[in-house]
Amino acid sequence: MASTLAAALPHGHADGNTKATEDGASAGKRVLGLRCRECRQEYPIEPIHVCDFCFGPLEVRYDYELLARTVTHESIARGPLSIWRYHDLLPVEHLADTGWRVGFTPLQPAPNLGQALGLRDLWIKNDSVNPTFSFKDRVVAVASAKAREFGFDTFACASTGNLASAVAAAGIRVGLKTFVFLPWDTEQSKILNALVYGATLVAVKGTYDDVNRLCSEIADQHRWAFCNINVRPYYSEGSKTLAFETAEQLGWEAPDHVVVPIASGSLLTKIAKGFDELQQIGLIPQKGVRVSGAQATGCNPVAEAFEKGWDAIKPVQRPDTIAKSLAIGNPADGYYVLRIVREREGAVRQATNDEILEGMRLLASTEGVFAETAGGVAVAALQKLAREGIVRPDERVVVYITGNGLKTLDAVAPSLSPPPLVEPTLASFDAFLSQRETRA
Ligand SMILES: Cc1ncc(COP(=O)(O)O)c(C=O)c1O
Ligand SMILES: [Zn+2]
Repeated sequence: MASTLAAALPHGHADGNTKATEDGASAGKRVLGLRCRECRQEYPIEPIHVCDFCFGPLEVRYDYELLARTVTHESIARGPLSIWRYHDLLPVEHLADTGWRVGFTPLQPAPNLGQALGLRDLWIKNDSVNPTFSFKDRVVAVASAKAREFGFDTFACASTGNLASAVAAAGIRVGLKTFVFLPWDTEQSKILNALVYGATLVAVKGTYDDVNRLCSEIADQHRWAFCNINVRPYYSEGSKTLAFETAEQLGWEAPDHVVVPIASGSLLTKIAKGFDELQQIGLIPQKGVRVSGAQATGCNPVAEAFEKGWDAIKPVQRPDTIAKSLAIGNPADGYYVLRIVREREGAVRQATNDEILEGMRLLASTEGVFAETAGGVAVAALQKLAREGIVRPDERVVVYITGNGLKTLDAVAPSLSPPPLVEPTLASFDAFLSQRETRA
């Protein structure tokens, strides 16, 4: 049952999408291999993620000269309305569109929120409307395609909540067995959401960092594709599509300043990389996009290091925040986030639980977008950045809303009043109305 759709498609291909491959560069040439971010040692395209020489993280290398010659606005526009329109800039051999609308989410002008924050040109990249309601569908689409290319039959992850349902659902679409590991205090809604797809879920008595450590040990024993481990270099590339779409939706131009929530930090680094790549291959004009980050006060290792001017991250041992999706105490890409944010003249700000809830309510009541707690973190951080003048009133600003509010209803419930209860009669309703008018 699980692989019905995948079985109907040629391996790694979907109908209607061959055009982009013909137009673009062939994968064998455009993807050159992996390279260590620290010592620049090169590696072939394999399911590996750490440098043997210096333990630095590995990153995908592309032939940008070839891409500059072959990828155009038109070739992209001929692709599907999903992340796969940027296939040439992703490390997947064959077009892996399973017919799902992953990505190409709305970039919405946010004039009301902008007015509330004193910003004249604010936009929301609304990734709460992906198939499993978070941006994780992007990274997982790339990772699951790559897992199939490498010949794995099992797809696994350590998750703070959103990755769980993205992996579970993608497993169904591409025909891979799935194993999902989560901290035991993950929101019930996110656990149920992953279970419904039939994934094998394992709740671990510990924090996300404990779960991640356990997964590294499991990955040594089992030949599985782990999003956060052996296929991480490919997985993380999926987040670049948030920058690609933002630029395309702005008429092939980068914004001035972006605000991005941080857990492991991968998303922020890849959004920055996405804008860089578009400039490098000549698809957008050169511009120094400013990059700012957002964390929760109960799990703020990057914000703390930024504020104190440290180069290294001091891990948070026991994260304690309602923004559980961002609760990574020892962020793998924290060091790179610090570097990027400093180089790009941004800042990292943090939000308390009350500020997160206020951010969620402000976004919902000004723009009609219901974000999960991570969105509340992003809006609350943006509010602080705007107040401090770090985000300037006249900048074109994009705030990334990465998950849907229905995933974290329990977090907002205590701050909302229950609705009035009336009898099913006009008299009862009229009584309610006049009571309300008297109070107002
Ligand atoms: C909703 C949401 N936003 C943002 C992030 C941050 O992603 P990253 O770990 O790439 O920093 C996560 C991570 O789980 C998330 O679930
Ligand atoms: Zn190295």
